[in-house]
Amino acid sequence: MTVARNIKAQRGPTLRCKGWRQEAILRMLENNLENGEDPERLVIYTGSAKAARSWDDFDRIVAALKGLEEYETLVCQSGRAIAKFHTHPRAPRVIMANGNVVGRWADRHYELQQKGLTLRPGMTAAAWQYIGSQGILQGTYQSFIGAAERFFGGTLRGRTILTAGCGGMGGAQPLAGKMAGAAVLVVDPRRARIQRRIDTGYCDRLTENLDEAVKWVETAKSTGTALSVGLVGNAAEVHTELLARGFVPDIVTDQVSVDPMGNYVPVGMTPEEADALKESDPKELTRRAHETLLTHMRAILEFEKRGSIAFEYGNGLRLKTADLGLKEALKLESFVTMFIRPFFCDGVGPFRWLAISGEESDIAEIDGMIGEIFSSNHPINHWIEMARKYVHFQGLPARIGWLGHGERSKLGVAVNEAVARGRLKGPIAFTRDHLDSGSVTSIYRETERMKDGSDGISDWPILNALLACSGGADLVAVHSNLDISSSAGQTCVADGSQLASERIRDVLNGDTGIGVMRHAEAGYERALENKRQYELGFE
Ligand SMILES: NC(=O)c1ccc[n+]([C@@H]2O[C@H](COP(=O)([O-])OP(=O)(O)OC[C@H]3O[C@@H](n4cnc5c(N)ncnc54)[C@H](O)[C@@H]3O)[C@@H](O)[C@H]2O)c1
Repeated sequence: MTVARNIKAQRGPTLRCKGWRQEAILRMLENNLENGEDPERLVIYTGSAKAARSWDDFDRIVAALKGLEEYETLVCQSGRAIAKFHTHPRAPRVIMANGNVVGRWADRHYELQQKGLTLRPGMTAAAWQYIGSQGILQGTYQSFIGAAERFFGGTLRGRTILTAGCGGMGGAQPLAGKMAGAAVLVVDPRRARIQRRIDTGYCDRLTENLDEAVKWVETAKSTGTALSVGLVGNAAEVHTELLARGFVPDIVTDQVSVDPMGNYVPVGMTPEEADALKESDPKELTRRAHETLLTHMRAILEFEKRGSIAFEYGNGLRLKTADLGLKEALKLESFVTMFIRPFFCDGVGPFRWLAISGEESDIAEIDGMIGEIFSSNHPINHWIEMARKYVHFQGLPARIGWLGHGERSKLGVAVNEAVARGRLKGPIAFTRDHLDSGSVTSIYRETERMKDGSDGISDWPILNALLACSGGADLVAVHSNLDISSSAGQTCVADGSQLASERIRDVLNGDTGIGVMRHAEAGYERALENKRQYELGFE
């Protein structure tokens, strides 16, 4: 049994693998753990999504990557390196399937994890594509600014956002809300989680006192100041108290992890007590967590009745509480149907890149290239300006930048050329969240309420992954998360070679193209226009 270690991604020009493609993948695995919320347990985020099945598996993966040739492909199954096969230089160096079980076995997933047969992959955890809270920052910003445009005349200045969950992903909320101009209050019972967001520049202030939190937020609202406040507390308790005081936020959402066996904390317990009960009496913990989730959701619905704009931010709270009998929860909309789907119709989504050398100046150089490639009124330029001001790097320097069809490949090829010419100091890895236009089926999130009723058709992520392999991505992953979602991810390494240039072009065009086509097939007019404009698909 190997003991847990403090893993950091290697920086610099020294290769441990037989090529930069393998080395970049290894550094991204290490980077996941460097940025993870509970790395000793190999947990990256959501309280349960893991980078490898065990530390022994981690070691085996590292050894396999170090020995992998430019003409070999490593096969990983749910966080375990299984075998490598002779393929060819244009093939992926790593392919993986994580967390997949057939439908009738979905409710046995936890038991299968306990037996060491599978793992919870999350989206970017087991595919080694996590870049810390920044990975979800722009999507959260687009949702908040979408709410501003639709309901508040284009700005959240002088508006309040109430939310909960300040973890790996939820921790993007305070900064995204601040970037959109709002006064944000985020509630989390784990002080250390809020402190981590303060330390990384994602949250401005921390308090354990509700009166103080409300005072700060109300002052910021009245002066039109953008501010984020983390309050140590339980959302079910705090929200109920805020309702009793007549506090009505302009926007209410949340991003706690709703899984009692993950890290959801019931009312009346400290996080440590909840963790202990998870071990000693998981049934009792689940019962208490369910009661708390119901109170939490009822409070959100009550805020909505009192005039707040309320939506779910992708954590499954509606489904969970509806399953517990609160059917009204399903009437709440999600951020995807309210704000994000039009982006998906353009093939636009959470594209991102990492400086594999660890050189921050490479990210700054790419920021500059974006200004040269895209017109000054393209939204990416405004985003980069804000990101440069607000985002502190975590782990390997990285940038999230929502780009669409034709745009990702244009940037990718230009960056590869810049690597070749020495304008950049080292290779760059391009990847994305699985929460993207053509790479996921998730019936209560990305594909909820599709126009043609195709919400649960899971052919699309599989096609996405097959196409990424055909184009020659460096890493391709197919994931399932319990019984509600199936997704695909890919990573492409710009090492400056001609082959990389061709692979990046084909993989990125395929990735966004299949996204446009998924939405065109579903009958979205905007996607149909894109299909015609980009000459995708058939008449
Ligand atoms: N919308 C998206 O794009 C998106 C993307 C990724 C993840 N998610 C979902 O968001 C959820 C959170 O993800 P994460 O990575 O931040 O998880 P995480 O486990 O890192 O953080 C969850 C946080 O919720 C807090 N929490 C637990 N009980 C609470 C309570 N009663 N009141 C207030 N806070 C409480 C925990 O202390 C923890 O800090 C997951 O369910 C995940 O699936 C959504």
